[in-house]
Amino acid sequence: MEIIIGADYDEISKAAAAAMAKVVRDKPTAVLGLATGSTPIGMYKELIRLHRDEGLDFSQVTTFNLDEYVGLDGSHDQSYRYFMTENLFKDINVKIENTNVPAGISDDFKASCQAYEEKIRAAGGIDVQVLGIGSDGHIAFNEPSSSLASRTRLKTLTQQTIDDNARFFERPEDVPVYCVTMGVGTILEAKKLILLASGAGKTDAVADAIEGPVSSMCTASALQLHPDSAFYVDLAATGKLKMLEYYQWVQAKKSGAPAWTEPPRTEAPTDVRFIDPAADLPSSPGMTVSSVI
Ligand code: PGA
Repeated sequence: MEIIIGADYDEISKAAAAAMAKVVRDKPTAVLGLATGSTPIGMYKELIRLHRDEGLDFSQVTTFNLDEYVGLDGSHDQSYRYFMTENLFKDINVKIENTNVPAGISDDFKASCQAYEEKIRAAGGIDVQVLGIGSDGHIAFNEPSSSLASRTRLKTLTQQTIDDNARFFERPEDVPVYCVTMGVGTILEAKKLILLASGAGKTDAVADAIEGPVSSMCTASALQLHPDSAFYVDLAATGKLKMLEYYQWVQAKKSGAPAWTEPPRTEAPTDVRFIDPAADLPSSPGMTVSSVI
C-alpha cells in the first residue's frame, strides 16, 4: 500500500492523473474504473489537459463507473452519467459507446447488476480503479457494514452520505436514498487502485482506512488487502494519521530506492518497517536501552 501525501488538492490531483496517464500510455486499450464526487474533478481536469496538450489518447480505452443513483436517468444533471460527460468524456477522445455507468433505472436491478459485472469481466477486468472516500469511510457507495466480498448491487445510502451529497441538489429531499454500486469485492479485483482524499472532512475516514483494522465499518480499509493500492492524500486530510512522518520519509527516500528486481511484495497491511529502538538512541554515557523504553 502506497501513501502519497501532497501539499494540497492540486498536487494530489496531478500526481493521480500522472499515474492514470501512465496506465493508458502503457496499455492504450486499458480498462479504466472511474469515480464521481467532487474529489476526482481536479484529476479529470489534468487528464483533459494531458489529452489536449500532450496527446494522451483515450480512443481505445473502455471505462466503468463505480455507481449511480437509483431513479435518475443519464440526462438528469445529478446523475453520475451526466457528471462523467460534463467533467471528462466530452473533453477527451473516449468513444461514448465504450463508457459504462451502472443503470439508475431498471425493471430488474438484479439482472442489470449482474450484467454490469459480466461486462467488466468480458472487458478483461479493470486495469486501474479510481476511488474517492466518503466521510464515513465508504468506497463507491459501499456504506459501513457492506460486505468486503460484495458485488454490484442495490444499496441504501446512510443519512451521512445523503447529507454530504445534499449540496449538489436543490432540496435535501431530492437526494436519492438508493443507489447501484460496485461491491468491495468487485473493486478489489481491479489490478490497481488509486484512492484520492482531500480536505479536513476526510481526516477520520483516511486514518481509519490506512491505519485502522480491515473492517466493513470502513470499506476503504479493504485497500489494505490489495497488492497494488495507493492513497493520494492532501495535507489537510492527514490530521489523524499516526504515521504521517513515516509516509513522508518513505516518499522522500523513494528516488534513491533500489529498482525492483522482482515483483513488489503483496502482503498487507501498510508497508511499515519498525526500526530497532536501540539503533536510534543518542549515545549518552550510561544510558541503556532499558532505561529509555
Ligand atoms: P466527494 O465524495 O469526493 O464528493 O467528497 C467522495 C465519496 O463519497 O466517495
